[in-house]
Amino acid sequence: MTDRITLVKKAYEAMQYSYSPYSGFKVGAALLCKSGKVYTGCNIENAAFSPTNCAERTAFFKAVSEGEKEFTAIAIVGGKNGEITDFCYPCGVCRQVMAEFCGADFEIITANQESIKTYTLKELLPQSFKI
Ligand code: THU
Repeated sequence: MTDRITLVKKAYEAMQYSYSPYSGFKVGAALLCKSGKVYTGCNIENAAFSPTNCAERTAFFKAVSEGEKEFTAIAIVGGKNGEITDFCYPCGVCRQVMAEFCGADFEIITANQESIKTYTLKELLPQSFKI
């Protein structure tokens, strides 16, 4: 079982691959599947701005495109120029993607240099849209 600190470390490693020449804000994510596999992702920016993909969605899309459909937790770290000065939270679009694939108790882990905070998806996206 991948513990929370290991997942945060993997998110930090993934952040090193961030392609963010426009904002300079680097983000890394590590997504733990129920299968035990971990998929990582970084943010990938674009000169046209709107094609930019967040680190969390990169990790989700990598996993789903390889057959994963059940998830336990995601760790996220980020900061300007890769310096982790604060907790990095998933944007609204990424929360909606999480709601597509994850249950209310899916764990969202964010960390700064000193500590780790854990939330459930239900806490960060209550009353989410579903069809
Ligand atoms: N970003 C993420 O990767 N994840 C989030 O949840 C919030 C924002 C990225 C997108 C963009 O490349 C940069 O952070 C600044 O918005």
